[in-house]
Amino acid sequence: KNIVILISGGGSNMAAIVRAAQRDNWRERFGARVAAVVSNRADAGGLAFAREQGIATEVVDHKAFPSREAFDEALAAAIDSHQPALVVLAGFMRILTPGFVARYQGRLLNIHPSLLPAFPGLHTHQRAIEAGCKFHGATVHQVTAELDYGPILEQAVVPVLPHDTPEALAARVLTQEHQIYPRAVAELLPAL
Ligand code: GRF
Repeated sequence: KNIVILISGGGSNMAAIVRAAQRDNWRERFGARVAAVVSNRADAGGLAFAREQGIATEVVDHKAFPSREAFDEALAAAIDSHQPALVVLAGFMRILTPGFVARYQGRLLNIHPSLLPAFPGLHTHQRAIEAGCKFHGATVHQVTAELDYGPILEQAVVPVLPHDTPEALAARVLTQEHQIYPRAVAELLPAL
């Protein structure tokens, strides 16, 4: 059972999942492994980590394609070359076409740095602070055609502190993401 993880940047959520797979023996227990890390950016820091771990990496540069659909086609081809049982979006900063989502629906996860359905979209930490939220957090959900929406698998809550900054709040949320994403993936493995 191959897991393919999509990143666009540092890939700290991808790394947390890779470490959980190693630490918790996903291969022996579930016949599952992180088979590939795919990025839309050749300079994504997470690619170096994946390569150090001996994990296959692919880069599909969205700027090299004339349309969103053409990019998604190439992205799906790169993903499918690893026969994925599960596709995990982890800090993947591209909006996917309905055709791509339909291709993987039911085996496509995302993590979003807010307590969905609150604050879909970008700049979630700044918006939570500006709204005066006392709590904020992260959500792991099944991806559907509607952006940052879909069946929720895991959530984590963090306090918003007085005079909090978006950066401090983001770091507090990210720590929780690294807990709930590996847990959400692990919970799915027996059923894959
Ligand atoms: C972070 O803002 C995280 O909250 C969101 O994607 C961004 C990068 O995460 N999920 P990662 O370090 O690339 O996993």
